[in-house]
Amino acid sequence: MPDPHTDPHGHSTRTSKFRYLRYFGDYWNSPVNSHVLELVQLQPHERALDIGAGMGPAAIPAAGILTQGQVVAIDPSAFMRRVLGIRRLWRRGRRRIRILNGTAESIPVADGSIDAAWAVNSMHHWASIADAVKEILRVLRPGGRMLLLDEDFDHPEHKSHKPGQTNPHTMPSEEDLIDLLNSSGFSNVAAKQSTVAGNPVRRLQGEKPG
Ligand SMILES: C[S@@+](CC[C@H](N)C(=O)[O-])C[C@H]1O[C@@H](n2cnc3c(N)ncnc32)[C@H](O)[C@@H]1O
Repeated sequence: MPDPHTDPHGHSTRTSKFRYLRYFGDYWNSPVNSHVLELVQLQPHERALDIGAGMGPAAIPAAGILTQGQVVAIDPSAFMRRVLGIRRLWRRGRRRIRILNGTAESIPVADGSIDAAWAVNSMHHWASIADAVKEILRVLRPGGRMLLLDEDFDHPEHKSHKPGQTNPHTMPSEEDLIDLLNSSGFSNVAAKQSTVAGNPVRRLQGEKPG
């Protein structure tokens, strides 16, 4: 039986929010998040959405790209929002980061107001990927892009993989995720497995029809 008290990283979930402190380095800077900004091709004037932004390994560099736009960083964890709020204080583009309490299933922004949305290593936490996908479609403008990327912690080549350990967060198959995006109304849907910074990842992309 999988241990229900571990997260997909194999980290214990018994020790409340302070467990995050043990993995501060991974959550602070991450090559996977930098890669996502390249994949999503964020433009300086755009309004972006970082879903489950955590401590801001994507939101912080995104704000450095923006000259007129804004990155809305949402996270249900008050601890993560507080760390990001402090972290942005001494960063370039800090005024371009808006931090809000929210979940993928309930995004606190207006319909059609986002050019590009992404989530990194967050999807496996979502209560309902189907509800989240509908909500992301609602907030994207026509032609807006979505990129969901999760490291594949179950993959034997992942640096955090522990043989014999079963991930308690089962994710839908790639085919099911593609079907979900297509049936929800996304266009140009693609799912891809690749390696980023030496770690296997699964990524899912789609656009709101223009
Ligand atoms: C492993 S962390 C990843 C954070 C950041 N994206 C990164 O790459 O470091 C997962 C984040 O998802 C957030 N989260 C949990 N449930 C969520 C939900 N339903 N919607 C959005 N984010 C959620 C957590 O609070 C946490 O900050």
